[in-house]
Amino acid sequence: MKEKRFPRSKIGWIWDNIKGLRGMLIIAMIGTVLYNFLQLTVPFFSQLIVDRFLTGENAGANFDAHRSEFYTLIAAMIGITLLRALIVYLDCMAYEHVSQRALYRIRNFLFEKIERQDMHFYNEYRTGDLMTRLTGDLDAVRHNIAWVIRMIIECFALFTAVSIYFFSMNVKLALCILALAPVIFVIVFCFRKKVAPMHQLLREKHAQMNTAAQENISGNRVVKAFSREDHEIDKFDQINREYAETNKKTRLVWVKFFPFVETCANLLPVVLLWVGGTLLMQDEMTMGEYVAFSGLMWAIANPMRLLGNILNEFQRFSAAADKVMEIYYSEPSIVDAPDAIDHPDRFIGKVEFKDVSFSYEDSDLPVLSGISFVANPGETIAIMGETGCGKTSLIQLIPRFYEPTSGEVLVDDLNVNTLKLRQLRTSIGMATQDVLLYSDTIDGNIAYGDSNLTKENVVKFARYSAADEFVSKMPDGYNTIVGERGVGLSGGQKQRISLARALAIRPSILILDDTTSAVDMETEKQIQKSLSELDFPCTKIIIAQRISTTKKADKILILQDGKISEEGTHDELIRKNGYYAELVRLQTGQEVIQ
Ligand code: GTP
Ligand code: MG
Repeated sequence: MKEKRFPRSKIGWIWDNIKGLRGMLIIAMIGTVLYNFLQLTVPFFSQLIVDRFLTGENAGANFDAHRSEFYTLIAAMIGITLLRALIVYLDCMAYEHVSQRALYRIRNFLFEKIERQDMHFYNEYRTGDLMTRLTGDLDAVRHNIAWVIRMIIECFALFTAVSIYFFSMNVKLALCILALAPVIFVIVFCFRKKVAPMHQLLREKHAQMNTAAQENISGNRVVKAFSREDHEIDKFDQINREYAETNKKTRLVWVKFFPFVETCANLLPVVLLWVGGTLLMQDEMTMGEYVAFSGLMWAIANPMRLLGNILNEFQRFSAAADKVMEIYYSEPSIVDAPDAIDHPDRFIGKVEFKDVSFSYEDSDLPVLSGISFVANPGETIAIMGETGCGKTSLIQLIPRFYEPTSGEVLVDDLNVNTLKLRQLRTSIGMATQDVLLYSDTIDGNIAYGDSNLTKENVVKFARYSAADEFVSKMPDGYNTIVGERGVGLSGGQKQRISLARALAIRPSILILDDTTSAVDMETEKQIQKSLSELDFPCTKIIIAQRISTTKKADKILILQDGKISEEGTHDELIRKNGYYAELVRLQTGQEVIQ
């Protein structure tokens, strides 16, 4: 798999994100080292007690003469054990605090990144995949700080401390026991190579599963309409099974290595018995030292046994961090120019296209070519053309959702590339073709672009868009909660709420993309009347299929294969007797008078 290059290493990236908490993490790490070193005190005291009071030459006499020393050693053992428990407790709290704060911080940062991305980003990433990054992947990152780092330090500290202690007691026995360490390194190296790709695959499967679930839940109406529940359930079962299988396979990788590690771990007491026993018999070590070796054997064996788990978790973190960092370091290509013009006043609403051509980044096919037109302030421009001819693509260039491949789009005679995105977009009211309402009240949806909008104004804009009548009839009126994506409203009702939302920001430029297509003729007439009587100046760019919507426009543009083929008023275009005149004939069923 291709390695992604990021400005920071994974650990460096975590370091950046624990700013203000670094001191606490370092103290926690020192705490980990400390409580692991303290592990040695109990066997150390045991060794002293055994040698002095239990097995030494004058054990009995020592015990009688230094009874208080014996009890002091026992009390010290209890005291240190309690102190150790306290350090472990505080340590775990500190790791948890740091990891949760980092998680919170990165998640907010990531959400902001996603929120501010451009259209290309949303074309590229699937919702389920992004959700996985914000949830499961981030949790793997948190787990790395809270558990993996602690475990690595714990294993190292314990191993180092015990090794030093072993060497200080008996070099020969220490060497024989630690001779197994290189074997463990080889095993770890091989395991890491095998398990790393498995974790990447596992993470992909997880994202696929989330995507399938998300698409099915949000698209449930289509599933129901086609009675495809069984098919979707089977499909999900397949993805879920693949995920479970991959999970199992990943876990099982360690099983292949585990017997080797276990053998090494089980060999340790044998080495101790054999070498230690011999040394004991040759009087090269004391019984107390032997007890200390024996009592600490677990401190060498445990890190060996834990290695698989730690490496597994580290690889899970590594695969997840790649995905999170990809979004973390991504930059939208459409951003404010460094010298973007500040336009504090209200735009007067002139829109001009100068020889604009456009194609989507992911395809070479030209969608628009040589588009030039002017919409003067206050004018209504209608855009018509058959489906797929590029109408939606054209209007998306005005708020700079995309940038033209060549040519210029100007608002108030300024190239949109030179304007501040926020100022440009807050001046444009847009009702998109694919209506998306939030699961909120109708009132909240209308006031989406201006949260200070008064109740009266919400009603006023709902009247403009002929929505007030049906909203008033609802039991909860404007407080009615609409479901996700506007579930619970008819297509035409959704369109009218979306129009009210676009109008509510009092835009200088209003863009309607097929916004009244699902509204009956009578209501549409009412909307058109309101639009011509708005109490603020506004240039309107309206995409529509119906002649009744476009007839009164100051200018009608006919788009064919991404080019403007006809341009003029209703009467002018009828005289032209081209595509528009044919459309009139088709829709009215009348021969047009030329
Ligand atoms: P209707 O809304 O159906 O009336 O069509 P339209 O005139 O609004 O067409 P639109 O501008 O949406 O699409 C014009 C062409 O661009 C079509 O051939 C689409 O297939 C293509 N297109 C639209 N969106 C995308 C996109 O995100 N990526 C790519 N590669 N092509 C796109
Ligand atoms: Mg369209």
